[in-house]
Amino acid sequence: MTKLFKPYQLQNISLKNRIVMAPMCMYSAQDDGFVTPFHVVHYATRAAGQVGLIVVEATGVVPEGRISNKDLGIWDDTHIAGLTQLVDGMKAYGAKTAIQLAHAGRKATVDGEIFAPSAVAFSDAYKTPTEMTLEDIQKVIEAYKQAAIRASKAGFDALEIHGAHGYLISEFLSPAVNKRTDNYGGSQENRYRLLRQVIDAVRSVWNGPLLVRVSAEDYAEDGTTMEDFIVFSRWMKSQGVDLVDVSTGGVVQADIHVFPGYQVPHAESIKQGADMPTSAVGLITTAIQAEEILQNNRADLIFLGRVLLREPYWPLHAAKELGEEVTPPVQYIRGW
Ligand code: FNR
Repeated sequence: MTKLFKPYQLQNISLKNRIVMAPMCMYSAQDDGFVTPFHVVHYATRAAGQVGLIVVEATGVVPEGRISNKDLGIWDDTHIAGLTQLVDGMKAYGAKTAIQLAHAGRKATVDGEIFAPSAVAFSDAYKTPTEMTLEDIQKVIEAYKQAAIRASKAGFDALEIHGAHGYLISEFLSPAVNKRTDNYGGSQENRYRLLRQVIDAVRSVWNGPLLVRVSAEDYAEDGTTMEDFIVFSRWMKSQGVDLVDVSTGGVVQADIHVFPGYQVPHAESIKQGADMPTSAVGLITTAIQAEEILQNNRADLIFLGRVLLREPYWPLHAAKELGEEVTPPVQYIRGW
């Protein structure tokens, strides 16, 4: 059997294959973060396509932490009903479900005040954030905890904390953005402190699989290093994180040279260096490419982004290509 179609045990859940839909904002929520019919169809379609685990897009734990005012939200109990519908739609076709809990930090584009570790704008096109007080930090940690409780009520199988792409947690991790002089800035331990506290807060109410997405490279001289992420990943492991989802970039403005599998070496370095399960993402588009990454132990799961927007049935095609038997939903059997 190929590794791509071999089940994977993610803590207490079994994924039917190693294919994961990467979190992707659809900018289609109603104002105030509510699920729309589009979301239900969009995610259920990828489940029908036989994706093993679907990670629902970045979902705001507070309204001021949204990337845009069309982001999904999970800051209020009234969001739970729509999210439950999403989960039910995906589960009906056998996918496991996760949601990415997010705070956009200085990259929020919503009306009103925005917050970050330091009062420096991402670029001229963005607002200057307010430097967070210790009280502001505690509120965000509590918001993550409440969001985890709501995600659990909605029936998600797994949670992913968004610690990548220059959003709030990523901003704290990176010395290129975090200029604080208190115990949330400076040393590795201090820059990691917010993520540590968010993980502990989520873990206090959530026993299921927990993933953290990181940007393992800032593409900036004063940014984080791979050594930082090996240390951070060891800490995450000791706190009960099950897998690190390894992305890069978005922290500061930078030219990034992208090519097929460009972030796989980062996933591999963390997997080997921290003895931590990882996922690879970024221009992985073919079944053979995914199989190579898994067989060479470079990562444990394959996250697919844009290719799943183009082709929701990617897993069914990949199975054919690799000579695996995968059963589509009964209604579609005549098509395969
Ligand atoms: C993204 N990406 C992304 N990442 C993330 O952590 N949370 C998110 O909500 C989003 N939103 C998003 C929207 C859209 C339209 C795209 C195209 C991308 C990044 C995504 O998860 C993935 O890491 C990249 O797209 C690279 O993988 P692919 O697309 O090359 O397979």
